Amino acid sequence: MLTLIRKKSLLNVLVACFLATACTQVKEKPVNEVIDDALALAEQQSLRMAEKYATEDRLLPRSFAGGEMVTSDSKWWCSGFFPGLLWYLYENDPKPELLNYARLYTARIEQEKYNTHTHDLGFMLYCSFGNGFRLTGDTAYRATLLTGAGSLSTRYNPSIGLIRSWDYTNGGKWQYPVIIDNMMNLEFLFWASRESGDTRYHDLSVSHADKTIQEHFRPDYSSFHVVSYDTITGQPHVKQTHQGFSNESAWARGQAWGLYGYTVAYRATKDPRYLEQARQIARFLLSHPRMPEDYIPYWDLDAPNIPDALRDASAGAIICSALIELSGYVDDALAGSYRAVAEKQLRTFASPAYTAPVGENGHFILMHSVGHLPGNSEVDVPLTYADYYYVEALMRYKKYLSSI
Ligand code: GLY
Repeated sequence: MLTLIRKKSLLNVLVACFLATACTQVKEKPVNEVIDDALALAEQQSLRMAEKYATEDRLLPRSFAGGEMVTSDSKWWCSGFFPGLLWYLYENDPKPELLNYARLYTARIEQEKYNTHTHDLGFMLYCSFGNGFRLTGDTAYRATLLTGAGSLSTRYNPSIGLIRSWDYTNGGKWQYPVIIDNMMNLEFLFWASRESGDTRYHDLSVSHADKTIQEHFRPDYSSFHVVSYDTITGQPHVKQTHQGFSNESAWARGQAWGLYGYTVAYRATKDPRYLEQARQIARFLLSHPRMPEDYIPYWDLDAPNIPDALRDASAGAIICSALIELSGYVDDALAGSYRAVAEKQLRTFASPAYTAPVGENGHFILMHSVGHLPGNSEVDVPLTYADYYYVEALMRYKKYLSSI
């Protein structure tokens, strides 16, 4: 009798498991459909945004806060992301309207090619003109990019071996500040080296990447945000945060820039040290005890009020895009685990938790990014770079799916 009851309950459990699995399978949309729908929504939002500001000669979208649009001029470090987003959308759906808007918004930042007062020219010019050149082969875009690379390279000091990030010295506290974000400029300089044949751009990028490994990273492969160097000795004299929770914390976007930066450095050089750095940063992030299950990180992994701390969609989007690329450089098992994380992130981003309906959210795609929480600036808002790296990740995953 007892055996019969046991058999019956086992059967019930098996039936329940079967039904649960079947229901989950029915409910979950295939990832290629998630991606196509997300790209279609991104296109609708971005076309509306582009149309709205088409005649505002110098404006670029920046954010949307308190029901109000926030714009910038071309000098803001994020000016290239909206044009870059339009280029990706044009690549996905090559319609003339997208091409015209991509060209229109890209042209708005051309004057920044002469800017020698920022390290952000990689973001500003390579996301916009770089994608434009990749997709059109327009030689005027190439010329703008090479002028810009020349301007950016003036910020490299050979006796320190790094590109200076900010001119700002924080009231004299910093002599030569370099932030982890600066790794993101190297893609532009590696490109400029290949395109122009000027190996100086390659060499200074390698020096920057090497010294950043040496000084920015802690033994667990998390990174400091700001390292300032003594201009006489070339040695670091300050290591701290600016946008993170504390000097010793793991500010999420900083970790994301590092992951993306070393993935690109490996792509450009095939130096196994950069691959190892990227893998270790990925390991730090993906195995972190305070990384949420959906892999959209809190704005700082050491924020004091986790699990109630704000998430940063921008950091999640950068990590997602980087992991998809990195999965192409590692063994199958690791690649599969990176892609599983990226897919989870994409599904989360495409859900109503992060994606606003068309016509809302100021026509930005994603909600819930954090720009600079300690400065009380851009807290829990949409940001152009979250949208840019999200759409880049969607495109990358779409390419991966079509290759298998
Ligand atoms: N400086 C770029 C950032 O806020 O991530």
